[in-house]
Amino acid sequence: MRLVRAGEARGSLDVESVRKDFPILRQQVRGKPLVYLDSAATAQKPRAVIDAIARYYLDDNANVHRGVHLLSERATEAYEGSREKVRRFINAAHAHEIVFVRGTTEAINLVAQTYGRTQVSVGDEVLVTVMEHHSNIVPWQMLCEEKGAILRVAPMDDHGQLLMGELEHLIRPRTRLLALGHVSNALGTINPVRRIVEMAHQRSVPVLLDGAQAAPHLEVDVQALGCDFYAFSGHKLFGPTGIGVLYGRSELLEQMRPWQGGGDMISSVTFEKTTYNKLPHKFEAGTPDIAGAIGLGAAIDYVSGLGLSAIAAHEHDLLGYATEALRTVPGLRLIGTAKDKASVLSFLLGDVHPHDVGTVLDREGIAIRTGHHCAQPLMRRLGIAATARASLALYNTREDVDALVAGLHKVREVFA
Ligand SMILES: Cc1ncc(COP(=O)(O)O)c(C=O)c1O
Repeated sequence: MRLVRAGEARGSLDVESVRKDFPILRQQVRGKPLVYLDSAATAQKPRAVIDAIARYYLDDNANVHRGVHLLSERATEAYEGSREKVRRFINAAHAHEIVFVRGTTEAINLVAQTYGRTQVSVGDEVLVTVMEHHSNIVPWQMLCEEKGAILRVAPMDDHGQLLMGELEHLIRPRTRLLALGHVSNALGTINPVRRIVEMAHQRSVPVLLDGAQAAPHLEVDVQALGCDFYAFSGHKLFGPTGIGVLYGRSELLEQMRPWQGGGDMISSVTFEKTTYNKLPHKFEAGTPDIAGAIGLGAAIDYVSGLGLSAIAAHEHDLLGYATEALRTVPGLRLIGTAKDKASVLSFLLGDVHPHDVGTVLDREGIAIRTGHHCAQPLMRRLGIAATARASLALYNTREDVDALVAGLHKVREVFA
C-alpha cells in the first residue's frame, strides 16, 4: 500500500509514488516534461489497468455468458466480478442494478430512450440545469421533441451555483424527470445533489445524476444520495475508453423496456414473441466490452486502494493552491467560483483567445483543454464563447500548478 509515507498524515496520498504507476506521465513532450492537466476530458491509466486488459487478452479471451469451456468461464467471472466491484464502489444495493454501457453519454441516452419514452408524453416536462454537459441536454431535447414535451432549465448564479429556490420552483406536477450533473465539467461546481434528490422526491420526481466528473474525485454512495439513476464513464476514472456504467434502482429498471435488441438480452425468442432476460442483461444486448469492464474493475481496485477520501483531500488541497496561484496571474479571470468545487479550473486570460492560451501552453509541455467543454448553453449564460480549463487528478502536484502559472506568464509575454 502506498497510502502513508513516514511523517505524513494517515491516509494522505504519496503522489510521487502514485505518479510512478502511470507510465505515460514519464514522457517529455515538445522537449519538456509532460504536465497533464486535462483529466476531466480523459484521465491517464495506471499500469494496473493496462496490465489487467493485457492479461485478459493474453490468457482469458472468450465470450461471456455463453460458453461451457474454461476460458469463457474465466471471462464471465472477470466480467461479472467487475460488476460487483462497481456495485461496491458506488454502494448500490444489488449488482443487477449496474448496467455496463459505453459511457455516460450512452447511459443517459438509454434512460431517455427507455424510461423517458414511456414516462414522458405531450405537455410533460423534463428538468435539467444550465450547467449541463451536452450529453445531459441533447438526449432530453430529442425526447421532448419526439413527445411534444418541454425541456425546462434551472438557472445558476454568477459563481456557478444552482439557484435552489428557482430549481425547487421548477419541479412541478408535469415534471417527469430531473437530470443534473453531480459535478460540472466546465465550472467544477459540486451540486448539492442529496438535497436536490430529496426535494424532487418530495414531489415524486425521479432524478438522474450525471456522475462523469464526480466518480473520479468524490465518494459516491447511490443509496445515501437516494438518486434513481447514476451515470459515469470508465475513462475519466482511470479506466479504459468504451466502458461506462448506468446505475438504476431495481424497481425502475424492472419496469423499463429494453433499449437495444439482440443476443444476451433475451430469455427466449420465437418469431411471434420474445421474452427478455433478467436484469441487468436485459440492457446489455450483444457481446459487451469485456476487456473494458475488466479494465474498469482494475481502475476501481486502484482508486479504492488509494482511498477516495485521500484522493479528495489531495485534490482539495491542490485546488486551493491552484486557485490562489492562478489569482496571482495578472488579467486572469476564474470562471466558476462556487463554494463547493472539485478540481476544475476554468479561466480566461485577458483577451487572449483560450485556444491561443492552450497552444502556447502546449509548447511548454502543458496539456489543458480549451473550448466550450460541450456546454454551449452554459457558455452562453456566462456571455463567453470558450474558456481554458485545467483539470486536476490524483497524480497532479503543486509543481504541475507552478508550471501552469509559469506557462501563463509566457502566454502573457507572447500576447503582450
Ligand atoms: C459532466 C459530463 N457529463 C457527461 C460527459 C460525457 O462523457 P462520455 O463522453 O464519457 O460519455 C462528460 C465528458 O466530458 C462530462 O464531463
